[in-house]
Amino acid sequence: MSAVLTDIRAATAGSATAPRHFLNIRDLDATTLRQILDVAAGVKAMQQGRRRPLHPAAPLAGRTLGILLSKPSTRTRVSFEVGVRQLGGDAVILTSAETQLGRGESVADTARVLSRFVDALVLRTGRTAALEDLAKWSSVPVINGLTPDSHPVQILADIMTFEEHRGPIGGRTVAWIGDGNNVASSLIEAAARFGFRLRLATPPSLAPSERVVAWARAEGADITLTDDPREAVAGADCVVTDTWVSMSDEDAAERIILLEPYRVDTALMARAAPDALFMHCLPAHIGEEVTAEVFESRASVVFDEAENRLHAQKGLLIWALCGDAWQTYGQEGER
Ligand code: CP
Ligand code: NVA
Repeated sequence: MSAVLTDIRAATAGSATAPRHFLNIRDLDATTLRQILDVAAGVKAMQQGRRRPLHPAAPLAGRTLGILLSKPSTRTRVSFEVGVRQLGGDAVILTSAETQLGRGESVADTARVLSRFVDALVLRTGRTAALEDLAKWSSVPVINGLTPDSHPVQILADIMTFEEHRGPIGGRTVAWIGDGNNVASSLIEAAARFGFRLRLATPPSLAPSERVVAWARAEGADITLTDDPREAVAGADCVVTDTWVSMSDEDAAERIILLEPYRVDTALMARAAPDALFMHCLPAHIGEEVTAEVFESRASVVFDEAENRLHAQKGLLIWALCGDAWQTYGQEGER
C-alpha cells in the first residue's frame, strides 16, 4: 500500500470513537444483541401506547440515514425509512443506478463522501466486498441490509418474533429447510449468540457456508446438518424456510429441481412440535418453498416477522447512533 493511501486511511478510520457498524450477527456479543432486542421491544411498546417513554420520542432528531440499494427491496427499504422517521430522523434512499457507483465511482470514495452528509448508512448489495469496503472507509455506522452471504437485520426481527410468541429462544430447537443461503448463515450465527439448537436440512450441494458453521460450532453452537427435512423438523419449535432462488443466484432451474423435496407442507409441519411456528423472511413463492396451506396457517407468523423488521431495526439504529445512553431508550418512564 502506498504511503499516501496509508495516511488517507489512517485519517479516515482513526477517529477516537469507532463507528458502530452492524455487518453480521457475529460482530456483536450476546449481551449487546440481547440489549438491542430489549430496546426494540421497548420502543415497540411505546409506539403501541403500552409503555410511557422515559425519553422524548425523537432520539434521532436531526440525524439522517442513507439507504443504498443495489438490489430490489420492499421490507428493508420501507422499514428502515419509516423506522428512522418514527425516531425523529430522516432518510435518503439511493439506488445504485441513480448514483455514481453505477458509473464506477469507488465504494471507498462514495463512503467518504456520504459520511460527510449522513449519520449512518444501510447497504443492500450483491457484493459482500462492497459492504466490507463501505464499512472500512465510512466514518459513520454501516448496517448490512443483505448481501449474498448474510442478512443479519432479518434475523434480529426473527428472534424478536419467536420470543414474542413463545418466550426465550435459548434452548429451543429451530429447523431450517431448503437452501443454505444468506439468511441461513445469519441464523447459524444467531444460534451461537442466542443459544438455540439449529438443524438445517439442505441438498448437499446447497449446504450452508462451512466457514460460518465452523465459526458457530467453535462458539459452542449446537448445529446439525442433514439432507433430510423430516429429521430436521422432528419436534422443532420453529420451522423456517426461504426462497429457493435468491437475488444473487443465477442457476434457478437447477435449484428448483434440487429443492423440490424441501417444500414445507402440512405433512412436514406435523412432524414438528404441536405448537411449532412457521417463519419466512419474505418474499415467498407459494407452491415452491412453502404450500399455501402452511403459509396461511395459524402456525405462520410471517407478517409479524415483517412488522418486526421495523421495531428490531429501530433498536439497532438507537444502538448505532445514540451513544453511551442507548440502552436507556425504550425504558419505562414515570407514570
Ligand atoms: N425480507 C426482506 O429483506 O425483504 P425485502 O427484500 O423486501 O427487503
Ligand atoms: N435469500 C433471499 C432473501 C430475500 C430477502 C435473497 O437473498 O434474495
